[in-house]
Amino acid sequence: MAELLMGVWGVLGVLLVRGGDIVECIGFPPTSAEPRRVLVGRRKPRTSSSSVDRKWNTEKLGMRIGVDVLAAGMAGGLVAPVVGMIDRGIMENASGRATLRESLKGSVRQMVLRPGSFFGGRPFGLIFTLYFGTYLTANLIDTASSTLSPPSSTSPSSSSSSFSTTTSGTPKFLATSTTNLALCLYKDSQFTRLFGPTTTGPKRPVPLPTFILFTTRDLLTIFASFNLPPLLAPTLSTHLSTSLQAYVSAASVAQFVTPAAVQIVSTPLHLLGLDLYNRQGAVGGRERVSRVLRDWGVSVVARMGRIVPAFGVGGVVNMKVRREGMEGLERGKGG
Ligand SMILES: *[C@@H]1O[C@H](CO)[C@@H](O)[C@H](O)[C@H]1NC(C)=O
Repeated sequence: MAELLMGVWGVLGVLLVRGGDIVECIGFPPTSAEPRRVLVGRRKPRTSSSSVDRKWNTEKLGMRIGVDVLAAGMAGGLVAPVVGMIDRGIMENASGRATLRESLKGSVRQMVLRPGSFFGGRPFGLIFTLYFGTYLTANLIDTASSTLSPPSSTSPSSSSSSFSTTTSGTPKFLATSTTNLALCLYKDSQFTRLFGPTTTGPKRPVPLPTFILFTTRDLLTIFASFNLPPLLAPTLSTHLSTSLQAYVSAASVAQFVTPAAVQIVSTPLHLLGLDLYNRQGAVGGRERVSRVLRDWGVSVVARMGRIVPAFGVGGVVNMKVRREGMEGLERGKGG
């Protein structure tokens, strides 16, 4: 049952995540879009509309923010069940509560048989908040930038399509990754306590070294998601067959391969952080290393499996819902 549902979800994910779409996800890839914008800005002749004439495009702003919230909410709602199950599985395995497979089965069973307690529960709420917050930050920055940039006076029609505009510059990258990092650290500190060892009485606070390890883990993931793919894509494109690239671009493949590959390195940091919480006190370094090594393989696979829903499906759903909603608002504008 658990495997079946995971499989159905996986197929759904693959259908949703078609090649070029991924590139348009939250800020992906920031480096390729930046120079193009600079060029356009330079080529455009300075028009008479100086800062005096600058009109802020605040039309239907409330509705546009509503669309941003809706898109982020739908993406978060779709991503949260799967990512939550995987995160719980890794933590329960590390704390000795259950194997990854048992944990996943238990989560799916709970979702199907007691949906109220699953979707109303704290774990779902924490993961939903993480992705909702990340996507909403990205969307609001896009909406802010389409509000602050004056409608181009030379072609009034172009301003009418600006609701659905997305950006991919450094401010968006910094804002979304900061939001993601902060919410992720909060989520993980709560998860660590929720799914820690059952034997302990009162929940202990998460120690500082665990926070440092989790932060390093996330910085590695962010680096691998944003900075490595553009460097890797050209090499990759010479190795992928042309027929494959007609379906999925090298840039899209790199967008998934690099964050997946970095899990090999970042997962031990995650596991050591968990172990420092789960077994506090005088546990030898050698003993901790052997625990990390024991759970490494299965946890890497689980964390790689998390990337497609977290960055692929969620990003595409958010982008499509937002675009549809904004285009709907634009169509209804003058009529
Ligand atoms: C966690 O996974 C590892 C690797 O599969 C396994 O050796 C270990 O026994 C698991 N832990 C628990 C509590 O099941």
